[in-house]
Amino acid sequence: MESPFRSDVLKGKVALITGGGSGIGFEISKQFGKHGASVAIMGRRKQVLDFAVSALQSLGIPAVGFEGDVRKQEDATIVVESTYKHFGRIDILVNAAAGNFLVSAEDLSPNGFRTVMDIDSVGTFTMCHEALKYLKKGGLGRGSSGGGTILNISATLHYTASWYQVHVSAAKAAVDATTRNLALEWGTDYDIRVNGIAPGPIGDTPGMSKLVPQEVNSKARDFRPLYRLGEKWDIAMAALYLVSDAGKFVNGNIVIVDGGLWLSRPRH
Ligand code: HXC
Repeated sequence: MESPFRSDVLKGKVALITGGGSGIGFEISKQFGKHGASVAIMGRRKQVLDFAVSALQSLGIPAVGFEGDVRKQEDATIVVESTYKHFGRIDILVNAAAGNFLVSAEDLSPNGFRTVMDIDSVGTFTMCHEALKYLKKGGLGRGSSGGGTILNISATLHYTASWYQVHVSAAKAAVDATTRNLALEWGTDYDIRVNGIAPGPIGDTPGMSKLVPQEVNSKARDFRPLYRLGEKWDIAMAALYLVSDAGKFVNGNIVIVDGGLWLSRPRH
């Protein structure tokens, strides 16, 4: 689908996107690139990164991939520094890396809970923390005007409760809290805007294929009036709005992009 945004809304900007090699993270990388940004993607799997970088470059997007695990502070430091060295500035950080699996709370080990907290919550904070000096107003970015911006991808699971997702619900709640608190502190001190997106079910993503079996997906509409699958494009367009000047007065906001699903109740 054609973008409603001008193709130069992110001209001259540099974005670092964790989990940028696949799923929602890749679509955000692609759309940022198509709208003028240079893109660095971070991920754990070299093959996935290489494939994604080639795909971005074939669209004419200046793109580079850096291997790293957001759970390791040293990886975060190196990837952030490498992005700065490669492109000369960092304007946008997107935290899209996430871990997930379906398991009942009874069967989930504390280490399984911790693993997802480590990836989603601690990983998001670590990346924000390591990127701060580059995102600061008048910081290290060449010719940077105003502070940079951060976008954290969470979910709507924790607004209510979700079966077999206690670890992810807890982790995403922490991500949203981190978004709001950094928006307050860094918005005030450094003019850095920090926002989030809470996607609903999005088709053609690792999350959907892991979490929602086909038979559930095909029946969901019978039970949930507003149930339909979003597209990765929908998330990327919300991301463009939030990180571009279109969103320049938006800070500390978590934009729900789910077609209204989370607030719906079964018909009776
Ligand atoms: C129960 C599990 C498990 C499973 C792992 N564990 N998988 N427990 N069921 N299916 C437990 C292990 O037993 C172990 O605890 C602990 O978690 C760590 O497991 P490892 O295998 O060592 O973890 P690791 O290799 O680091 O893998 C991390 C991962 C993996 C989270 C398990 O799946 C991953 O990295 N996935 C990333 C890709 C992904 O899922 N992306 C989609 C995100 S979608 P013990 O106690 O045995 O040591 C998303 C959408 C949310 O976030 C919103 C949806 C609407």
